[in-house]
Amino acid sequence: MSMSGLLRTSFTRTALRRGLATEAGQVAPRLKTFKIYRWSPDKPTEKPRLQEFQVDLNKCGPMVLDALLKIKDEQDGTLTLRRSCREGICGSCAMNIGGRNTLACLCKIDPDTSKESKIYPLPHMYVIKDLVPDLTQFYKQYKSVQPYLQRSSVPEDGKEILQSVEDRKKLDGLYECILCACCSTSCPSYWWNQEQYLGPAVLMQAYRWLIDSRDQASKMRKEMLQNSMSLYRCHTIMNCTKTCPKGLNPGFAIQEIKKSMALE
Ligand code: SF4
Ligand code: SF4
Ligand code: FES
Repeated sequence: MSMSGLLRTSFTRTALRRGLATEAGQVAPRLKTFKIYRWSPDKPTEKPRLQEFQVDLNKCGPMVLDALLKIKDEQDGTLTLRRSCREGICGSCAMNIGGRNTLACLCKIDPDTSKESKIYPLPHMYVIKDLVPDLTQFYKQYKSVQPYLQRSSVPEDGKEILQSVEDRKKLDGLYECILCACCSTSCPSYWWNQEQYLGPAVLMQAYRWLIDSRDQASKMRKEMLQNSMSLYRCHTIMNCTKTCPKGLNPGFAIQEIKKSMALE
């Protein structure tokens, strides 16, 4: 028997032992049920619902985004979601999977086919369609903290603004934020005060600029936060840090802002 024939026979035996293959040598499908939130602005009088789809995990990539794209390609082209990079960089595939806000492209499908997987849009947000939340307010808040370098003077030699290795290190754990909004939409304070409370993602960015040694606008930045709503609605419950798919700690950043404001 040829080498490829031998390999095929041994694969079939292993698959049979694991109950994955039939006697005819075909790999048995591993059907996983996905229940996905559906709502369309084209049918505004219809209530949102969960629609059920089945996907053969033997023919699907390992991540939830793979399953969603397979469903969209093969079963229902109207299923609507955001995605771009498929590697945890763009932040656009943020959604609520199995009760947790995360990125669909970084979230592995639970291989246990006896358990269904439920997928909703990010919670407590207006929904544009299906899994796409309206992030207009989120980005408006991001813009409000003026997330860019501000200086009143330029270096005398007209060249770069230098930063020490130690000062640069202070930005680690902050600059990596991809603004996916998983943290803000897991925060109970943000759910109830979204119009005025800035939420963990935006506050972490405010902190990122506050501690940048090259920035000269810290006084103005702190004044903007000095009111009862923008910052102090955080009650240190830490849902935000628990859910961040990039392993960042917005709860800590908020505490540090509060500390520096108290020491003023
Ligand atoms: S801190 Fe984490 S969860 Fe929050 S927006 Fe940034 S990457 Fe997303
Ligand atoms: S620590 Fe603050 S920002 Fe984070 S979830 Fe709790 S209240 Fe929200
Ligand atoms: S597709 Fe870009 S983070 Fe998931």
